[in-house]
Amino acid sequence: MTKPIMAVLRGERAAHIPFWYMRQAGRYLPEYRETRAKAGSFLDLCFNSDLAVEVTLQPIRRFKPDAAILFSDILVVPHALGLAVSFREGEGPVVEKVGVDGPLPKFEADLFHARLAPIYRTVAELKRRLAGEVGLIGFAGAPWTVATYMVEGGSSRDFMAVKQWAFAEPESFSRLIDLLTKATIEYLAHQVEAGAEILQVFDSWAGVLPEMAFRAFCTEPMRRITETLKARYPAVPIIGFPRGASALYVDYVRASGVDAVSLDSTVPLSWAAAELQSKVVLQGNLDPQLVVVGGAAMRAEAERILNTLGHGPFIFNLGHGLVPQTPPEHVADLSALIRAWRE
Ligand code: CP3
Repeated sequence: MTKPIMAVLRGERAAHIPFWYMRQAGRYLPEYRETRAKAGSFLDLCFNSDLAVEVTLQPIRRFKPDAAILFSDILVVPHALGLAVSFREGEGPVVEKVGVDGPLPKFEADLFHARLAPIYRTVAELKRRLAGEVGLIGFAGAPWTVATYMVEGGSSRDFMAVKQWAFAEPESFSRLIDLLTKATIEYLAHQVEAGAEILQVFDSWAGVLPEMAFRAFCTEPMRRITETLKARYPAVPIIGFPRGASALYVDYVRASGVDAVSLDSTVPLSWAAAELQSKVVLQGNLDPQLVVVGGAAMRAEAERILNTLGHGPFIFNLGHGLVPQTPPEHVADLSALIRAWRE
């Protein structure tokens, strides 16, 4: 039996609309907070296969979604390239900076994969444990989004440093994007070898770039990622998430070669149905704050999404990750609603 999420990603019908949630493992779950406390730092949790498997499976036990997403973070790639990465409580990530004047990290395949080996072990163990109908999603950050953290040294409001570099010295900035494109391809290929069945590439900050820079630094690297991975693994579907891309979603879908796109919560549903759904599978796009609110407001918007996009190829998800304030009961209510929806 084909798993429902795989059927939909291959353009077939499934008995119900498959669903999963970005950040379905995380601080809103008490069992996550318990495991997290045992791990030490957040990166220790990502690199401890036993604990990473456990937190990946926690939302599967509670909500029975159609897919598990590997528990890790997009910033393990700069870490594996040899940069210092840490997560400070309440502050978010801190990344050793790379800039226009300094040297770029070198991609040394043996060292890179040795550092990521615990993550490949997590994927392999998850594959072994996830029998039945639950798909296994591997992921990476997109080159642009990972570059923003490397150039800004962490999260940013205005993306000043990374835009200065990208706009003033596009050729030198392209070398950083090329390095990350290569590293991302290698990282995702190893996840597939370990057992990942579906890949999602998170371009969380795609929406801060103007048109031409978006094409150069988001769409074109994604095209190379899908082209290379599709040549090696034609049966592994790839989901792109160019968050905030707005009307440029059309361009991204046409040029990047993804099988599916994840819609952020601002994308109008009827526009997406008309402009995108005949070309790719859609995924999305409930606002995560509506899951904090719950009740009738959450249910009304979830139903509107299902009624508008559920007649074509569609995977229900959020427009961005679940936040720590989310009551788990609201996620359970939402899951029941999606499971019960019929055309
Ligand atoms: O979806 C899942 O359940 C899988 C796990 C996952 C995490 N991060 C775990 C995490 C995934 C897919 C990510 C991706 C990620 N990480 C993105 C892309 C998606 C997005 O949210 O836009 C980005 C931009 C990051 C970088 C990152 N990681 C930031 C900015 C932060 C700090 C903010 C925060 O939410 O704490 C993290 C930390 C992080 N990654 C946590 C988790 C569960 C929280 C850390 C903790 O538990 O202490």
